[in-house]
Amino acid sequence: MKIVESIVELQAYLDLQRLKGKAVGLVPTMGALHQGHLELIHASVHACDLTVCSIFVNPTQFNNPDDLLKYPKQLETDQQLLSKAGCDVVFVPTVAEMYPDQTESLSMSFGVLEHVLEGEFRPGHFSGVGVVVSKLLNIVQPQVAFFGQKDLQQLAVIRKMVRDLNIRTKIVAVPTVREPSGLAMSSRNLRLSEIEKEIAAHLYKTMQGLKDRVCFGDNVPVAIAQSKDLLAQVDGLQLEYLEVVDSATMQVVSDLSAADSISICAAAHVGEVRIIDNMYIKQT
Ligand code: PAJ
Repeated sequence: MKIVESIVELQAYLDLQRLKGKAVGLVPTMGALHQGHLELIHASVHACDLTVCSIFVNPTQFNNPDDLLKYPKQLETDQQLLSKAGCDVVFVPTVAEMYPDQTESLSMSFGVLEHVLEGEFRPGHFSGVGVVVSKLLNIVQPQVAFFGQKDLQQLAVIRKMVRDLNIRTKIVAVPTVREPSGLAMSSRNLRLSEIEKEIAAHLYKTMQGLKDRVCFGDNVPVAIAQSKDLLAQVDGLQLEYLEVVDSATMQVVSDLSAADSISICAAAHVGEVRIIDNMYIKQT
């Protein structure tokens, strides 16, 4: 497995591979890899001839400086996991390599998509994601790029950006990988104690209950209110939002006939860690 820090070196290598007819797959990450990330690598290894994984903790998408500072880093373990998973190239640029001028020189806006849910609670976050992902897509020029459904709003933002900017990469979504308790795997879970992990799993269980109820025909706003009441009784968990939304626009819906694809989206604080999760209720 090749480890590359320089954009020029990476591009020269990939140009050569493309001349040999190889289809390149990209898996963008911020490292501290877990089974969720590795599923994206497996999907790329399966679908493409050459898989590039980028590991870059992108400062422009963190609206909370403490979260950036505390973001877990484990580069050596990550490289071992990637090598075992069949990844061909790891791209690990420095901040100066990715942002040689100013970190805040460019911004992107995504209209209604960025003012709700994560966008409302993390101002500027999706602009930072959009800029870094478009840079990575331009640098690597992959045929396919793989993203997790775990970050459903991020997926919607990236799909919109690729459409709006006529980027030729195909975007593939990979289902969320969970712990046996149902807790969605996340690099931030490394900062949760065992007890906090049990507390965090209540979010999944409540979402599952909400899904069952609305699929059974219960009134959506009433079912949401009752799920919020249940979560308010969980010691150590502070809910930020719990909504039923159109999966493409992330706008709140009050009945299941409102869109082709509908999801539950939620965010909560457990201890010092902010967790997010989502679940399809109905998919096209
Ligand atoms: P990161 O949180 O490291 O996630 C990298 C990719 O792994 C994302 O596409 C994310 O949705 C996916 N992922 C994370 N946990 C998952 C799980 N439990 N199951 C399936 N997929 C999962 O998301 C980012 O990094 C950044 O915003 C990035 C896109 C790299 C831009 O900086």
